[in-house]
Amino acid sequence: MTFGTTQDQDNAAAANAANAAGAACAETNTTGAACAETNASRGIFITFEGGEGAGKSTHINFLAEVLEEHGYEVLRLREPGGTVIGEKLREIVLDAAHQEMSHEAELLIYEAARAQIVAEVIKPALERGAVVLCDRFFDSTLAYQVYGRGLDATFVKQVNDFAVQGAIPQRTIVLSCGRAARCGLERATKHGVTDRLESAGEDFHTRVNEAFLELAKDYPERIRVVESQDLKSQTACAVFAALKDLFTWISPLLDDKDFFARVDTGRYGNKHCDEG
Ligand code: TMP
Repeated sequence: MTFGTTQDQDNAAAANAANAAGAACAETNTTGAACAETNASRGIFITFEGGEGAGKSTHINFLAEVLEEHGYEVLRLREPGGTVIGEKLREIVLDAAHQEMSHEAELLIYEAARAQIVAEVIKPALERGAVVLCDRFFDSTLAYQVYGRGLDATFVKQVNDFAVQGAIPQRTIVLSCGRAARCGLERATKHGVTDRLESAGEDFHTRVNEAFLELAKDYPERIRVVESQDLKSQTACAVFAALKDLFTWISPLLDDKDFFARVDTGRYGNKHCDEG
């Protein structure tokens, strides 16, 4: 399935990625004027996507730590959430007691939370040159509400565009555990209460997993699929490889196994994303 203005959006992501490379250039040398001229926004916007239990938070937290070590201002955000309003909307949309929620209401709650975090947090951060790492963004809506719930792709794409007001990620990492939903679902739900989306059923989540792989085909410039490996350090290395055009200092790190080995200590998954 192709979602609306595929080519336009992928072109925008490619242009943004080029701008991001410019931003890195402007930061690392004092003659950055030429680079800066090409920057619509100075920051770098990266989103992480995937089905349930794919291990996104581990890789967001590790990447954030490394970026901070390199001197970047980094924001770790999650969707829905990341603002006071967004966290309240998150509670409403995920509450397992709200079984009567219509698919249309569900869509609009996710989009309302998104509109808020974009206006309140993401755009200002990008304008001041920060790196924004967001755990889920508009691709989740295409995967869950279009492929999962069966809502109209063209309409959802329009609402996505309205909510993000031009804030399109330069790169999206899809962490994939394959098409089958069971393994990820078990991992996602083993620690406690199952939320409303997690309890949507295995078929639903298989469609969601397939959707992310389809989306990666639709937006090859922006979206990169990384297989979630048993060894987290291998996955982390693949995540960094998928970002090397955005940060010039990444390439030399890719052969350094010791550098990535620290991810296997397991502590990265336990930190929480910033909630506001
Ligand atoms: P998570 O952040 O803990 O994964 O929980 C968010 C849940 O909401 C997850 O099941 C995916 C789902 N979701 C949607 O259905 N649509 C969306 O647009 C977003 C951002 C998330």
